[in-house]
Amino acid sequence: MSVGKYVTVEHRPDNIAIIRLDTPDSKVNTLSGPLMAEFEKVLDHLAAHPSVRGAVLTSAKQGNFIAGADITMLSACQTSEELSKLAAGGQQIMDRIANNKIPIVAAINGTCLGGGLEVALACHSRVVTSDPKTTLGLPEVMLGLLPGSAGTWRLPRQIGLSNALPLLLTGQSVRPDRARRLKLVDSVADPFALESAAIKMATSLADQAKTTGKIPGADPHNASTLDKVVERVPFARKFFFQTAKKQTYKKTHGNYPAHDAILAQVEEACTASKAVALASEARRFGDLGMTPESRALVSLFFGQTALKKNRFGKPSREYKKIGVLGAGLMGAGIAQVSLERGFDVVLKDRDLAGLARGMQQIRGNLDTKVKRRQMNKVESDAVMSRLAGVTDVDAARADRQLASADMVIEAVFEDLSLKHRVLGHLEQLVQPHTVIASNTSALPIRDICAGLQRPENVVGMHYFSPVDKMQLLEVITTDKTSAEAKSAAVEVGIKQGKLVIVVRDGPGFYTTRILSPMMNEAGLLLQQGVPVADIDRAMQKYGFPVGPIKLFDEVGIDVGNRIQPTLEKAFGARMSGASTQMLLDLQAAGFLGRKSGRGFFDYAKGQERQGDPPRGHGHCCQVQG
Ligand SMILES: NC(=O)c1ccc[n+]([C@@H]2O[C@H](COP(=O)([O-])OP(=O)(O)OC[C@H]3O[C@@H](n4cnc5c(N)ncnc54)[C@H](O)[C@@H]3O)[C@@H](O)[C@H]2O)c1
Repeated sequence: MSVGKYVTVEHRPDNIAIIRLDTPDSKVNTLSGPLMAEFEKVLDHLAAHPSVRGAVLTSAKQGNFIAGADITMLSACQTSEELSKLAAGGQQIMDRIANNKIPIVAAINGTCLGGGLEVALACHSRVVTSDPKTTLGLPEVMLGLLPGSAGTWRLPRQIGLSNALPLLLTGQSVRPDRARRLKLVDSVADPFALESAAIKMATSLADQAKTTGKIPGADPHNASTLDKVVERVPFARKFFFQTAKKQTYKKTHGNYPAHDAILAQVEEACTASKAVALASEARRFGDLGMTPESRALVSLFFGQTALKKNRFGKPSREYKKIGVLGAGLMGAGIAQVSLERGFDVVLKDRDLAGLARGMQQIRGNLDTKVKRRQMNKVESDAVMSRLAGVTDVDAARADRQLASADMVIEAVFEDLSLKHRVLGHLEQLVQPHTVIASNTSALPIRDICAGLQRPENVVGMHYFSPVDKMQLLEVITTDKTSAEAKSAAVEVGIKQGKLVIVVRDGPGFYTTRILSPMMNEAGLLLQQGVPVADIDRAMQKYGFPVGPIKLFDEVGIDVGNRIQPTLEKAFGARMSGASTQMLLDLQAAGFLGRKSGRGFFDYAKGQERQGDPPRGHGHCCQVQG
């Protein structure tokens, strides 16, 4: 046994060595300078022991193989040249793995991302566990980068160009079954059998190498017929990459240089020698790393990582049961993310129709996940089994169920008097420690808790639509909110998988307040006759994921109509200008946005197209005055 700080090597009697990565004082392994230096020493050590026939490279961490490169190391670089040098260094280590005299098998349990997957790709074989935490991907594009340690060279050669390109361009990771179908990995094992499966694989590769003199799996070049045509026929290649560029542009609107660089790199690598391709990869990595887009995305990454910890300390108790009032778009979404993260949930609506709609929303979303193999049927049934639905029809049962909740999140209509009534009743039922949260979009929390007996237990928890997809959660505290309620809200939010920001109370809080002037301006443009598509396109081109008119539909036109007066009252001319009548007319005609199947856009039969709100009901594109 050879023991380092980051890497240990165990010599087995069957002459297979087990290399274990274990970054000290960290839950995950990252490819840091010290880890890589030790790893290289281990390769030297193995070379000095000719009796070793093969090696298994694995991690001593729970649920993590290698999370990626150490980003602090990248962000410390001041110039493109420094970054390129770092990439070239990484490429050399990957080549040392691939050209090693004995086979190295990556045994992967948990996350294998970025530089982690580049290491795994350089190995002669990959065995992964079937654990749901096992995911493989190259997410560099999300940091405005491309994989710089030969990932753009090895991934297309391992799984084929046409399979690799979408993964490189989206940064999406794949789970074990898909990884096996793509031939990204050679086999999937039960977690307890991972090491033995990898040892078996290393032994088999060593035996084959002994007979043939060549280690199978060293830098393969796999290609489907389509890939071969693209790689070899200039005309086909040009067409393939032009189409890919057009499709990418539709999503990025040209705002992300990394996408163009990835496309150019993979295209170049179709014909260039490996040495030329890797030199270009390192150069592009260096150039991208110094772009403001990449620097901003890296900064966001650090911010998001910091928000995964509860900086207000652990609450004094576990908050296990969540009550949700209102089974509308938001309430059902909040219930879903809570259920999926293991909370017990009581979902209440005023009537059966409302409750049924909400339950249907949850069931439908889970069914989609099952269809997409993001969970299996047993798991989705287990999620639903933690849900109790109640209504005012059986008020006594509803009260009983809510009485034992540790936290209740209210998501009824945006109406102050209704919220007062609902929360006043709730406060009589629940336990003294129960945190009461309001998912209001804009009503000040101090107004919502006026008249309540325990305002110290009240916070705002402002989720975004669709709740199961949007990462952000805005927690709002008042002067009266207790430290316990604040830390409980943050803790629950983090457990629900959200990025939680904490802000002080005020009309529109942070998010609605900064969004509203833009929405108002979009409304004004509509009234002046600018087409819906032009407004949305302009803002998407500017970098917004959806345009403001589409956002009206996503939020709900009725919800928008309730928010607007609150902000106008608080901020006057700064938040007004567009005719509020236009949106009120749309609401009156039943055009509530996505939830009613029609708004500015038409969502009938799952097809999205620009809708045609009735004239005479404030048609959005009519020229006013
Ligand atoms: N839609 C958004 O994008 C969004 C985003 C953040 C916050 N919000 C806020 O969330 C809240 C709900 O919004 P929504 O879009 O889900 O609205 P919605 O109209 O889809 O749902 C409201 C639900 O509350 C139910 N309800 C009304 N009175 C009730 C009562 N007394 N008891 C139990 N249920 C009752 C209704 O039947 C309905 O099902 C609002 O305060 C809204 O401002 C909405």
